[in-house]
Amino acid sequence: MKETAWKSPSNIALIKYWGKYDVQIPANPSISFTLSTAATSTRLKYAKGKGAIKVFLNDTETPSFMPKIQSFLERTDNLFPFAQEMDFEVHTSNSFPHSSGIASSASGMSALALCMMSIKKDLGLSIDDFFQEASNASRLGSGSGSRSVYGPLAAWGKHAEIEGSHDEFAVPFVDVADVFKTFQDTILLIDKGEKTVSSSLGHGLMTGHPYASSRFAQAHENQSKLLTAMLDADLERFGAIVESEALTLHGMMMTSMPYFILMKPNTLEVINRIWAFREATKNPVYFTLDAGANVHVLYPESHKEVIMRFIDTELRTFCKDSSYLCDHVGSGPIQL
Ligand code: PMV
Repeated sequence: MKETAWKSPSNIALIKYWGKYDVQIPANPSISFTLSTAATSTRLKYAKGKGAIKVFLNDTETPSFMPKIQSFLERTDNLFPFAQEMDFEVHTSNSFPHSSGIASSASGMSALALCMMSIKKDLGLSIDDFFQEASNASRLGSGSGSRSVYGPLAAWGKHAEIEGSHDEFAVPFVDVADVFKTFQDTILLIDKGEKTVSSSLGHGLMTGHPYASSRFAQAHENQSKLLTAMLDADLERFGAIVESEALTLHGMMMTSMPYFILMKPNTLEVINRIWAFREATKNPVYFTLDAGANVHVLYPESHKEVIMRFIDTELRTFCKDSSYLCDHVGSGPIQL
């Protein structure tokens, strides 16, 4: 078999994508920090065949990943028509523990999409823009995965102020003050269990949600305000918008029908401690959440020492097994 391999990072949304139309079209624009340490490495082995697929996670065959990969290949059929006449072995591993509550779908799907693009290139098939097509393919596997193919930030979904922004693929975003290009994200692992409600179910509950249309409009406005704050290096504005987006995301979950809560008591404890610490010390430290209980602590690299001391003395005790992951804004995927 021939093979190709990519390492692709996870990302953390600042403006949250929550709600979608068929197939994988976002109901509102989103923008994220591309991460660096949290990543998936995928080696894709391929040979002429009949579409047989085997998936391995950390060298162990993992059939539970098959439905997602099969649905990815079906949805990307027009991008990768050669897939039907090949057999594949997907060998994948994450830099973070599988049961950490960190979603591997964005990094995993983007790594796979990039591998498929490399095969396409190798076969000499026509490609207009390698990464744009990889982002489009990645979106079809995991919406937020569309943003993992570019660093330091990536924007997905049509937005009036981002030139070239599109619902089918993400675009790289660099028009930010330097401070944001090295921002730190310490991920506090509050709960390592499987999520009780999947993202796809949650997105679905935005259809017919009583606050959907105002939420979607708000995301456009928040994104405009965030772009200005990031250009002006206005950390306080940045923090206010990002924290509001995180709580709005969870507010949408709590006001869905059926309703659900993904935060845990320790999520709230940590948020309150961040607020109290910020108020008392005036340090620029903010939080965001994804669709889970973990807290992403965001701060400039210049404040790493003081914030890490705060995390170790005050926040770590609220993490499962006292564990957290240190990450920072990164520059995107690398071919292995
Ligand atoms: O890409 P999905 O379907 O796993 O949805 C991700 C949704 C959030 O992480 C909550 C927000 C986002 O924009 O990444």
